[in-house]
Amino acid sequence: MGCCHADFAALEGSDRGFTIGMPTFSFGPGVLAEAGDNAAELGLTRVALFTDRSLAAGEHVAKVKASLAAAKVDAVVYDQVEIEPNDRSLQEAARFARDANVDGYVSVGGGSVMDTCKSANLYATYPAAFMTYVNAPIGAGARVPGPVKPHIACPTTSGTGSETTGIAIFTLSSINAKTGIISRRLIPTVALVDPDVTRSLPANVVAATGFDCMSHALESITARLYPRRLNKAQGILRPVSQGANPFSDALAVQALDSVGKYLVRAVRDASDAEARSEMMYAAMLAGIAFNAAGCHLPHGLSYAVSGLVRDWHVAGYPEGKSLIPHGMAVVLNNPSVWRHTAPAHPERHLRCACALGADTRGATDADAGEVLAGRVIELMRAAGMPNGLTALGLGEDQLDALATGAEPQYRVIKNAPVDIGRDEIKALFRAALRYW
Ligand SMILES: NC(=O)c1ccc[n+]([C@@H]2O[C@H](COP(=O)([O-])OP(=O)(O)OC[C@H]3O[C@@H](n4cnc5c(N)ncnc54)[C@H](O)[C@@H]3O)[C@@H](O)[C@H]2O)c1
Ligand SMILES: [Fe+2]
Repeated sequence: MGCCHADFAALEGSDRGFTIGMPTFSFGPGVLAEAGDNAAELGLTRVALFTDRSLAAGEHVAKVKASLAAAKVDAVVYDQVEIEPNDRSLQEAARFARDANVDGYVSVGGGSVMDTCKSANLYATYPAAFMTYVNAPIGAGARVPGPVKPHIACPTTSGTGSETTGIAIFTLSSINAKTGIISRRLIPTVALVDPDVTRSLPANVVAATGFDCMSHALESITARLYPRRLNKAQGILRPVSQGANPFSDALAVQALDSVGKYLVRAVRDASDAEARSEMMYAAMLAGIAFNAAGCHLPHGLSYAVSGLVRDWHVAGYPEGKSLIPHGMAVVLNNPSVWRHTAPAHPERHLRCACALGADTRGATDADAGEVLAGRVIELMRAAGMPNGLTALGLGEDQLDALATGAEPQYRVIKNAPVDIGRDEIKALFRAALRYW
């Protein structure tokens, strides 16, 4: 079984299996126009079409609407999705879904839109107090009771892979931290992954989402190995995120190969259809990979960063709203994390570096962290990322607050290949302050 099969040798008491969930997907230029036929094939007659305000009047939504109309599927549009959703915006969307009387869902947008749609579908199908399905220990972590309604996900960004995952992420205002709802039931039924949508993407969105994709792949490969996972539930109760496994390894390596070759080209030239298309495909592969393997430190730490920074705006994101794009917050912690986790699995870190295009000839296990961190920093510089957390206005004085902000993320952080406590978290943030 694949390379590194020895990594997956069963341990005493460990689960011998792993489970991969994913939607039926279609990939290729023009597949957005297949939304109507897919909806009809699923038996849908009236769908809720989720999008965001800026995409609502654009060509991608128009194409999907026309396709649904041609297939005689009614569509009622919800365009009030919040970019980087929160508990309030998810509940508003769920109220809309409950009142819309639909038999299915279509989402056209980035991770913010697809996640809002998944959550609205869940709460409209199985109404409950909002914290019921939110991950424990922040929420009650209740299991989704049964299938939700069919969902056709049409991603318009190239990074989150949300079209393939059973994950909906949002900011919980009461603790100013990101958390989520996770269930295989939330995996979209069908994903229509159309690289034509990337033509209209602003360079900053390509860069941030591209690094999100890269980190999903890196975290999948370097996560705790599945026979060593801490939640040992088996069979139907097996968790969605199970740690590194041979299937997610294969997809993630392929995604990294594309990121290494095409991310910078895709950022620099909107007319480079090959590069933008490859990034769209890589994002989907990395989504399938991290849905099964789980993320760990870079995502866990990123949520503390996005929760703490005020007054930051990047062109291409909604005007008048302070936010650090998700992928930007994630990549800023990357080099610091790889330097720390490499000793746990040097071969895996070197494999990642090699897939990303680093010259690994002659590199020893002791070099693994530095080689991978170095290649990520090269890509960050070439794609115009900020030089560490200092560039966002964070410094030594904020290390305690950052460590506290990471505490709600221990569920994710524990999927790291090494044990991590508050002191290590502070050290990781300190090492992420400046890279060049
Ligand atoms: N569910 C998951 O598996 C998963 C994985 C990673 C990230 N996320 C979440 O996804 C969210 C981020 O999603 P995102 O990075 O895709 O961005 P986004 O959905 O927040 O959109 C970012 C910006 O890009 C614009 N945009 C989107 N598509 C466009 C297009 N084709 N042309 C022009 N503009 C376009 C949007 O209008 C918005 O202003 C975060 O909340 C993050 O936590 C979820
Ligand atoms: Fe992500």
